[in-house]
Amino acid sequence: MAEGQREKLEMITLHKILFTICAFSLLYKYYTSTTPNIVRIKDPKFSLLGPFNTTQIKVEDNYNQLIDVNEFNFIINPQPCKNYPSGLLLMIIISSNPNNHENRMVIRSTWGRNHDSTKVVFLIGEPENVTVSNQVKNESIKYGDIVQGNFVDVYRNMTYKHVMGLKWVAHHCPKAKYVLKTDDDIVVNSREMTHFLARELSPWGAKDLIACQVLENAKVQRSTKSKWKVTTEEYSSDYYPTYCAGWAILYSQDVIPRLLKTAQSTPYFWIDDVHITGVIAEKIGVARTPLSSLILTQSSVNKLKVFGPKYVGPFVFGPPDLSTDKIIDIWSSIPA
Ligand SMILES: *[C@@H]1O[C@H](CO)[C@@H](O)[C@H](O)[C@H]1NC(C)=O
Ligand SMILES: *[C@@H]1O[C@H](CO)[C@@H](O)[C@H](O)[C@H]1NC(C)=O
Ligand SMILES: *[C@@H]1O[C@H](CO)[C@@H](O)[C@H](O)[C@H]1NC(C)=O
Ligand SMILES: *[C@@H]1O[C@H](CO)[C@@H](O)[C@H](O)[C@H]1NC(C)=O
Repeated sequence: MAEGQREKLEMITLHKILFTICAFSLLYKYYTSTTPNIVRIKDPKFSLLGPFNTTQIKVEDNYNQLIDVNEFNFIINPQPCKNYPSGLLLMIIISSNPNNHENRMVIRSTWGRNHDSTKVVFLIGEPENVTVSNQVKNESIKYGDIVQGNFVDVYRNMTYKHVMGLKWVAHHCPKAKYVLKTDDDIVVNSREMTHFLARELSPWGAKDLIACQVLENAKVQRSTKSKWKVTTEEYSSDYYPTYCAGWAILYSQDVIPRLLKTAQSTPYFWIDDVHITGVIAEKIGVARTPLSSLILTQSSVNKLKVFGPKYVGPFVFGPPDLSTDKIIDIWSSIPA
């Protein structure tokens, strides 16, 4: 063999070896980077799934019953999960007031933009106002992201709305790894959220996960002046169980059919976060994990504007009760 040819052969072998090393190190990096490791949650009360374990929980739910409403049905029922047979990473269900068309438009163009890993639907009941009802119908035809149920959309019916969301996920999006229930006046840092779920939790999902801003020892409001006034007939104890602030609650998929099943047979209580993430969660024995440092507080919003995201730090979702201007404002402060 000529000297030149041998050198050429050796070079090819060397390249092969280098290529193999590179491929293995990439695989190793991929494996370790997607191996579940919780970085910022100090006291996790849930477990993470790996590539080989899945949770199989049967949906035992009467489709046409919603708590004590016996002729329930979805008036509008989009199917955004249908084209994802192996399951989305995250399904976001947003309790929305039918009148809040503007909030929905802002969410669609900011944090709620659809991705292959994440879909968004808005939960709505039947508006009492016929004009609004027609607007919702039109909006749904245009955007295909409204889930509507046949209960009257009034404030005291918000637990129906929440449980309808659980029902919709259990029946129509049962393979999403995580489910985020929010209100329509908050910001979700969707990029950070995706990163958090896939890298710090697990891309394969979790088990027994209910994570949120956790509220403890909350006193039941009895004063007639309170928006949250509750009579002793409605709720007899003086304190609520530990529960999640309802404006943003992260569930793992396995929790959804369990909450749904128990909620369907538990007497109605109108404060949905107390009822679902307090009373029902205790019944099914799932603890709530605080997301503490990952929640953008009202006071951090100004710091975010002035000093930028480096100062505030990464967050997964923002404070409640925002105006649409504020939602746009916060979203524009987060780097793309
Ligand atoms: C996932 O499987 C591993 C072993 O394959 C096991 O140790 C772990 O407990 C499982 N996790 C869950 C949440 O079931
Ligand atoms: C119904 O909604 C429309 C549009 O928002 C509003 O103009 C109208 O006043 C409402 N009607 C009633 C009876 O509240
Ligand atoms: C809904 O859409 C129809 C057809 O485009 C239109 O005629 C009607 O005015 C719209 N209704 C409302 C309430 O926006
Ligand atoms: C809540 O919805 C149910 C079912 O549509 C209805 O019967 C009930 O009157 C509503 N509640 C209120 C307070 O309007």
